[in-house]
Amino acid sequence: MSKALEGVRILDFTHVQSGPTCTQLLAWFGADVIKVEKAGEGDATRGQLRDIPDADSLYFTMLNHNKRSITLNTKDPKGKEVLVNLIKQCDVMVENFAPGALDRMGFPWEKIQEINPRIILASVKGFGPGPYVDCKVYENVAQCTGGAASTTGDPDGVPMVTGAQIGDSGTGLHLALGIVTALFQREKTGRGQKVLAAMQDSVLNLCRVKLRDQQRLERTRVLKEYPQYPEIEFGEAVPRAGNASGGGQPGAVLKCKGWQKDPNAYIYFITQAAVWGAICKVIGEEDWITNPHFATPEARLPHQKMIFDRIEEWTKTKTKFEAMDILNEFDIPCGPILSMKEIAEDQSLRETGTIVEVDHPVRGKYLSVGNPIKLSDSPTEVTRSPLLGEHTAEVMAQMGYSAEQIAELKAARVI
Ligand code: COA
Repeated sequence: MSKALEGVRILDFTHVQSGPTCTQLLAWFGADVIKVEKAGEGDATRGQLRDIPDADSLYFTMLNHNKRSITLNTKDPKGKEVLVNLIKQCDVMVENFAPGALDRMGFPWEKIQEINPRIILASVKGFGPGPYVDCKVYENVAQCTGGAASTTGDPDGVPMVTGAQIGDSGTGLHLALGIVTALFQREKTGRGQKVLAAMQDSVLNLCRVKLRDQQRLERTRVLKEYPQYPEIEFGEAVPRAGNASGGGQPGAVLKCKGWQKDPNAYIYFITQAAVWGAICKVIGEEDWITNPHFATPEARLPHQKMIFDRIEEWTKTKTKFEAMDILNEFDIPCGPILSMKEIAEDQSLRETGTIVEVDHPVRGKYLSVGNPIKLSDSPTEVTRSPLLGEHTAEVMAQMGYSAEQIAELKAARVI
C-alpha cells in the first residue's frame, strides 16, 4: 500500500528530541527522511542515557525510526557544496539548531530559498521573536515559560514540570502539522515557505485552558472547580490545581485497593453531571440524588472534597481495574493510573501498533512507541533507527555523486 507522504524528501537537520519527533512522524507517513549528522559525532542523544555500552541509546533509537542517516561536515567548503545539492533535491528542510546556527553555517533562509524556491524550511526554536529569541531552550524551560509549570503541582507546593514532553515532543507535533500544511499550500502556489514552531508557543497552546481560567479569575475572583474553593482565597494568577480536572466536570485521583504498597493503585474519577445518579447508586448514597446539597453540579461544588472522600471509601475496596469495570458499566468516566510497566505489557496497545517491538543490529530487541496517529490508507511499519552514517554512500549516489567522488569526500572527512 502506498504511503501518504510518499515522494516527499526531507532534509533532516534535527537533533535531540523536539525536531526528531517531528521528522519521525513524517517518516512514518512515508516521507524519505535523510538525517544529516556531524561526521564522527552524530546526534548527541546517540550517546546520552546509554543502557548498553557502545550501542545507540534508547533516547536516540526511539526518536529516529524509519530515517536514513548521512554524515556531512557543513562547515567545510566542500560540505557546503554537498548541502547545496541536498537543498536542491529536497522538499523540506527541518532544523532545531540554536538560534542563528543556520545563518552562521552560511545558509540563511534567503539563500536556501534562492537555491530551491519550492523548499519549506521548518524550524523549532525555544522562543518566537521577542526578548528571548536568541536563547537556547530545553524541555523544562519551555514548560516553565509556556505556563505549564506555574499551573501544575499541589496547591501549596512548588511549580511542577510534567513527565509528558510537551515542550519537545509537543512542539515536534506542532511543527509536523505546519510542514504538511505548507506542503498543501505549495500545491497551489508552487512556492515553499518558512515554518516556525516555538516551544513556548506550543506549550502555551497546550495550556490554553489555563489562560481561559486566568480571565475567568480576573472577572469573578474565584474558580469554583479548583481545590482551593471555598476555603482558600485566590490570588491574582491561576493557581496550581493538583489533580483537579481542568474542565467543567470535577475529577480527582482516588486510592484503590493496595494503595499502601503499590504507588500506582489509584484511579482518576470524574463526577460527570450526567451520571451523578449512577455514581450515588454505586457508592451507596442514593439519597444524594435528591438531597439539595448534592443534587446539582453547582450545589456540589463547595462539598467536592467531602464527595471525593466518600467515593474514595468505595474505590479503596476495589482494585483500579475492578473499579474501572464496574464504573464503565454505568458510563462513569474514569481511568486507572497505569504504570509504564503495565503499559509496556498491554497486549491491546501492541495489537494496534501503539507499542512496537523493534530489532536493532547492535542493541537487539527493544520497545518503542509506534505512530499514535493511524491512517486507514497509509499504515505505519516501524523500522529501526539508522546507524551513524549508515546511508551516506547510498544517499550521495542517489544525489548523483560517483563512487570516486564519494571516496574523495570520505577521505577528506567531509562526509
Ligand atoms: N556539520 C558541522 N557543524 C554542524 C553540523 C554538521 N553536520 N550540524 C550542526 N553543526 C553545528 C551548528 O552549526 C552549530 O555550530 P555553531 O554553534 O558554531 O553555530 C553547532 O553544531 C551546535 O548546534 P546547537 O544547536 O547550538 O547545539 P547545542 O548542543 O549547543 O544546543 C540546543 C542544543 C537544543 C539547546 C539548541 O540546539 C536549541 O536551543 N535548539 C532550539 C530549541 C530546541 O529544539 N530545543 C529542544 C531540544 S530537544
